[in-house]
Amino acid sequence: MPLAGPDQERLTVAKQLVVEPAGARALRGRLRAPGDKSISHRALLIAARAHGRTRIRGLSEGEDVHHTLEAVVALGAGAERSGAELYIDGGPARLHEPQAVIDVGNSGTGIRLLAGFVAALDALVVLQGDGSIARRPMDRVAAPLRLMGAHVDGRQGGRLPPLVVRGGQLHGIDYTLPVPSAQVKSAVLFAGLGAAGVTTVHEPVPTRAHTEEMLAAAGADVEVVPAGTGFTVALRASALHGSEIEVPADPSQAAFWAVAACITPDSDLVLEDVYVGRGRGGFVAVLRRMGARLELLNEDPARQTADIHVRAGPLVATSVSGEEVASLIDEIPVLSVAAAFAEGMTTFSDAAELRVKESDRVATTVELLQALGVRAEPATDGLSVVGGGGAPLPGGVVASYGDHRIAMAGAVAALRATGPVTINGWDATATSYPGFAEDLRACLR
Ligand code: S3P
Repeated sequence: MPLAGPDQERLTVAKQLVVEPAGARALRGRLRAPGDKSISHRALLIAARAHGRTRIRGLSEGEDVHHTLEAVVALGAGAERSGAELYIDGGPARLHEPQAVIDVGNSGTGIRLLAGFVAALDALVVLQGDGSIARRPMDRVAAPLRLMGAHVDGRQGGRLPPLVVRGGQLHGIDYTLPVPSAQVKSAVLFAGLGAAGVTTVHEPVPTRAHTEEMLAAAGADVEVVPAGTGFTVALRASALHGSEIEVPADPSQAAFWAVAACITPDSDLVLEDVYVGRGRGGFVAVLRRMGARLELLNEDPARQTADIHVRAGPLVATSVSGEEVASLIDEIPVLSVAAAFAEGMTTFSDAAELRVKESDRVATTVELLQALGVRAEPATDGLSVVGGGGAPLPGGVVASYGDHRIAMAGAVAALRATGPVTINGWDATATSYPGFAEDLRACLR
């Protein structure tokens, strides 16, 4: 397979990480978080569908995105690496039925976006993943894809993977998202690329806009208009053209460093080239509300990026609820760590989606905090955290439950512990951030 390059020496990640207390050290200097995972998945799918060659720079190096790369190759796209660049040769004429089951690994974004993407093909495609994927709800994508004319099946009538999709001959639908989910919106839009008529998606709550923005940049006939509290996206079947995609740094990964710098005394860290566009910057607003010393530098409105400068300082509790939740849903584990060092009780509500992420993040975040001596309580749709006003934690042993964000949240909390913190299941970080421990070593000084 023409995928030679850094991927062949993929970083192997240890099963366990022991983080020693930072002591007198702080996080200093500049750091570029990995390429954005959401944008990386979409870059590969759009490139596979686009006529000609697409050049992608800065793709996420995690396993999730690697699975999507393997998927588009199995579906007929060409892939070639050259240093830090990846070239994808695509176009509808290249795409075909894959010979084997497509394995998405741990990636919920991968399986849901691919379900929509393959629904537009005249092919039978089976999508499966690991044990966590086998528990994640797929009816949210199966339902609209069936309305468009695709045959979608799976365990429990299509509620759980593996998913079996027989696509082709689709027609547009007018669909209102029942859950605020960019993955569902994107699945419908990817299917709409090959559907007759107009595919319209209404989102009452705004979610990340990468799919519609990147489709427009690749030449799709797509229109986005504000509607009530959210947006309506309308797409017609479109031919896409190859383009150059520069993937900015991932705000969901930058958030770990932002919290780490806030809570570790004397830290002064610049996070470079972070995507701060619609649906992703919620953690910046929340940390500011908590009193964090955080400013955006070098804002680039065209790329929707900025450098984020963070300095350590005292934090106060806040509450996070309503529409804001969609813009920071993946950041709640690490924002809960920030809350553990704030003055007062922080609550996260209207966040029932946490229950169906890579792990049940209400349960796993609460367990992580409690294992480190923090008072935290679960709620049906969120959690509450009683902050210690900046007092250090004693240390302890935590489990990732196979969830990369729980593992990394544990490593951040460990910086303010007086004893070591052992994180079991650290290898989960390979899905999105295999170099996290190295980056931590590099900026602790
Ligand atoms: C993502 C959307 C979010 C997020 C996930 C990535 C995406 O999921 O939690 O990590 O790339 O579209 P939902 O769409 O299910 O909210």
